[in-house]
Amino acid sequence: MKNIPSARRRELTTWIPGPGAIQLQKVLTNRHESALLDLASNDYLGLSRHPSLIEAAQEVMASEGVGAAGSRLVTGTRPIHRQLEYALAEWLEREYVLLFPSGFQANLAAVVALASRTTQILIDRNAHHSLLVGVKASGAKFQRYMHNDLNDLEKHLKGLKERHPSNPKLVITESLFSMEGTCAPIKEITELCRRYSAQLLIDEAHALGVLGSQGRGLCYGLEEPLAIISGTFGKAFGSGGAFLASNAQIGDLILQKSGAFKYTTALAPPLAAASLAALKLIKNNPQWGKELQKKAIKWKTQLSNQGWPQPHGEGQIISLIIGSDQEALEKQTYLENYGLLSIAIRPPTVAENTSRLRLALRRNLPNEALAQLLTALNSK
Ligand SMILES: Cc1ncc(COP(=O)(O)O)c(C=O)c1O
Repeated sequence: MKNIPSARRRELTTWIPGPGAIQLQKVLTNRHESALLDLASNDYLGLSRHPSLIEAAQEVMASEGVGAAGSRLVTGTRPIHRQLEYALAEWLEREYVLLFPSGFQANLAAVVALASRTTQILIDRNAHHSLLVGVKASGAKFQRYMHNDLNDLEKHLKGLKERHPSNPKLVITESLFSMEGTCAPIKEITELCRRYSAQLLIDEAHALGVLGSQGRGLCYGLEEPLAIISGTFGKAFGSGGAFLASNAQIGDLILQKSGAFKYTTALAPPLAAASLAALKLIKNNPQWGKELQKKAIKWKTQLSNQGWPQPHGEGQIISLIIGSDQEALEKQTYLENYGLLSIAIRPPTVAENTSRLRLALRRNLPNEALAQLLTALNSK
């Protein structure tokens, strides 16, 4: 870090996990090195350092190696990949699950599988960048509808029906939005898609493991026109990698045709093993998601009692809208001074003048964290 100018060093904040520390992360800033309570990571169920995940990864690493050393269709497929795919398909009650090395790739593959040049896509304005990259890669025409706005979505669907009656249509959204903490009105969106003959792709990255029946996401139980669900293991599952779940026909199409699936080294076997261990824990502890949601409601209520606007949705992501970049960065510093780590999220990740602190709650946060946060937010 020595040769980096100090202003730049803050941007390059480096996290050094303390030995065995579950809740504390060490953060190295230009001023000091100290332990901060992590309110920023997506380790919602606190599984990333869970002994069962570590043991499962170590065991598979000892037998299969660190990396898969080949793509799935050449030499990369191992028994653990299939075990995880079957277990997820059974848990989510979907016919077909395919693993990917990352959620970014999975989203790219999902959009390209469902859309081509003749497709008309409607995508939520706040949907994740990877989905938008997929949309552009597909060559389809697209429009962005207002965030979670059913009227705006219907207006666009109506317009497409009139202007492009015979073109295939695809609607894309996240279920729990990563930067807002808002939940999409999934049932209503599905109904609109049914009415206007559009397919639906939903990214469940932040909902899986926490929201929906026993943590199975907000799409659990939804049928056509929902075509693909995308999920990642890098968040509540505490591991890495991702998957797409669909019916057998779409799954087979991705398997045969998707470049993002075929031309990449298979998900590292130890990560697949850790994800399977995480899935077993989530299945054995179906109350975890509800407990975390309860905690989030308590935090939101207390924050709104102090004058902060409550984010919509029941999820574990709390978005404290500050406004200007400068103020958001200042708040981040106040929190650091009180031993808390929350990152100021600024444009272009979010819209101008909506810079915010994104608080990601975890199951294993200490009880005093909320009081610490409230004190820090009121400080100068
Ligand atoms: C909504 C959403 N989808 C997809 C991804 C990408 O997942 P991964 O980190 O596994 O590439 C992310 C991660 O930032 C995300 O927030």
